Amino acid sequence: MRNISLDNITATVQDSMRGAADARFREVIGSLVTHLHAFAREVHLTHEEWNAGLDFLWRAGRISDDKRNEFVLTSDVLGLSSLVDLLDGSSSGTESSVLGPFYVEGAPIVPVGASIVGDNTGERVLMHGTVFDAKGRPLPGALLDFWQTDADGLYSQATPHKGEFNLRCRMRTDAQGRYALQTVKPRYYSVPYDGPVGDLLRGGARHAWRPSHFHVLVTAPGQRRLVTELFADDDPYIDADAVFGVRSSLVLHFERRDDAAAVPYPIKAPFFEVKFDFRLDAEGPAA
Ligand code: BEZ
Ligand code: FE
Repeated sequence: MRNISLDNITATVQDSMRGAADARFREVIGSLVTHLHAFAREVHLTHEEWNAGLDFLWRAGRISDDKRNEFVLTSDVLGLSSLVDLLDGSSSGTESSVLGPFYVEGAPIVPVGASIVGDNTGERVLMHGTVFDAKGRPLPGALLDFWQTDADGLYSQATPHKGEFNLRCRMRTDAQGRYALQTVKPRYYSVPYDGPVGDLLRGGARHAWRPSHFHVLVTAPGQRRLVTELFADDDPYIDADAVFGVRSSLVLHFERRDDAAAVPYPIKAPFFEVKFDFRLDAEGPAA
């Protein structure tokens, strides 16, 4: 292999992996090489530009730790996380959306209808609905894990005085597959932009805002795990999410209610009612 040239370098790198035992590895990494090389050829990448790219990766590594992963954020702002969601998510059930970096395992389990408002101020929300399987049958005992920002756009990591699990909970659906949660309306907030991803956003004349949302992770025996987000249709950033997580099927209307008797849960009026049913796929590859 002493005759490496522009004409043969891509095929030569791919050929170097011909002994890989894992066929999927060969396919995925081989294709990555094809497209990386094609990209470098297309833009005629210079040394200076590629060094800037390597410097970005180096800085992303330096700023990452067990609480912050700049590589995930890079994938998010480049739309790759959402592309994988669209490719590998459900085609007939509830659409998935990004997990984000603020999930905390082990939130308290609360009963259907519970309030997680605690000391938070903000507009009250009752979110409720049913979890169904792919055949439309209600799923009793499905586990929903919720997390969200407070009314100032802050996750519990940024408000330790409110408790580790502020505005977070897990809930099992009842015998009819129903869930119901009393909470406050979350607010839009910005993804971290004090690291290399911030430079990437500024370079592209982009902002760092995400529209307000609830995160929900739903699991049930025999069903595919669902990671998704629910958005408010009146959010100023609903059409400009910095990480491209919005799908129209996940944009909900918050209906103002002035009469608590309108719902079968002990909530104080006025509040906003949000209804959403989840539909899970059976375990296995994406349907
Ligand atoms: C979030 O929803 O919390 C989030 C998602 C992607 C990047 C940063 C934050
Ligand atoms: Fe979030």
